Amino acid sequence: MHDQSEETSAIVELVLDYSRRRILADNIPLDKAMTAPELVRLAGNAISEEGLGARRALGLFEHVLAPACISVDHPGFVSFIPAAPTKASIAFDLVVSASAIYGGSWMEGSGAIHAENEVLAFLAAEFGLPPEAGGVFVQGGTVGNLSALVAARHHARATRKARGLAQPDEWVILSGESTHSSVASAAAVMDVRVVRVPADSEGRLSGPGVELALQEHKDSVFAVVATAGSTNLGIVDDIASIAALKDEHEFWLHVDGAYGLAAILVPEMRATFEGVGRADSVIVDPHKWLFAPFDACALIYRDPAAARAAHRQSASYLDPLNEAEDWNPSDLSFQLTRRPRGLPLWFSLATYGVAEYRRSIAASLDLARAIADEIETRPSLRLIRRPDLSVVAFERIGWAADDYARWSAALLDDQRAFVMPSAHEGAPILRFAVLNPRTSVELLVAILDTID
Ligand SMILES: Cc1ncc(COP(=O)(O)O)c(C=O)c1O
Repeated sequence: MHDQSEETSAIVELVLDYSRRRILADNIPLDKAMTAPELVRLAGNAISEEGLGARRALGLFEHVLAPACISVDHPGFVSFIPAAPTKASIAFDLVVSASAIYGGSWMEGSGAIHAENEVLAFLAAEFGLPPEAGGVFVQGGTVGNLSALVAARHHARATRKARGLAQPDEWVILSGESTHSSVASAAAVMDVRVVRVPADSEGRLSGPGVELALQEHKDSVFAVVATAGSTNLGIVDDIASIAALKDEHEFWLHVDGAYGLAAILVPEMRATFEGVGRADSVIVDPHKWLFAPFDACALIYRDPAAARAAHRQSASYLDPLNEAEDWNPSDLSFQLTRRPRGLPLWFSLATYGVAEYRRSIAASLDLARAIADEIETRPSLRLIRRPDLSVVAFERIGWAADDYARWSAALLDDQRAFVMPSAHEGAPILRFAVLNPRTSVELLVAILDTID
């Protein structure tokens, strides 16, 4: 299994050939889930004492398993938050796997970590964070939010202890009405309470609401989470007015920009995200709108030392790494072993240049506005709100949840597109999450034409 031989060469050739075909295919199928009994019947048992051999195993993947997975990079995939990795980033993901690099410590992975840090420094500068800011690529926004909030609480505890103050009976996170579910999940893991601050008239978390909550919950509050692009509607909180509260109140500001903060790369959008530069921690997911493959979240701290104090693991076999005082990415999040998952983005940025990214993100924003305009011309449809970013949410007047579900299933059965219904204020809606540069206005109009 580990030697260079005719057999291992043939396996590598087979796999690279499949990868080449998939990466360069022009018309990838959308595909859809099969039922578990169907998969049992079609896939059978691949795992046996003797093994199937690479040709048969890959055939099983290509002809049975892969078609039972929706292609998230299909132009018609506009559900949830799609992924649309660049060709360079996908290809380089193979290189990352081939290179067997441990990305947790500088001693083992300095070259890869240097490159990842270059990307993090580039993003930090775009966000307006100071040059000392730094971080780590973690698996996804959920792990990024958890890691940031663990660092925030550790910092609050340590600060109170250093000042000789008692610790509060409970710790509180202030969040908004459209904060991502992963924050509640992190809070459950940390055994802290989430207080949802009512939105302002534009549906955003903003300074006045946060200030009232800070007055009510006082020292219990260790973090405020602002969202730079909510998942369901793409709403960007009023980060500037929340950040301004730091002049009077002490709290850790965490900005969850997993989906939307990539849009700050578009110069005309900078004002939308004003205040991000005052954050204590920020996340953005390259596997969303920065066109990298699953799975990667850039987690950046204003003061990486605060994260290190919370996350560094100590063990007799690890302590030599800690004594070296190197930049060890594992010190900055809730994980130890890690692949250098920032490298596909590094390679893609290095290959194409940042300007291409700015253009592609701007194109999604234009497309979202264009399809919102189109929706507003159709009497049977109602736009929920003008898109702040690239999520376009709307309702089909008169439809109930069943109608949406039937329509969505038929669209997928016909292999035209994947548009999952969602909900807003208790009522079902549809949403297009537009970030794939290959999603066209014609395709979205054709989808709208199927709604009668
Ligand atoms: C705003 C926001 N935060 C956090 C997450 C969680 O990210 P992940 O799915 O990468 O864990 C998402 C996912 O869509 C998101 O949109």
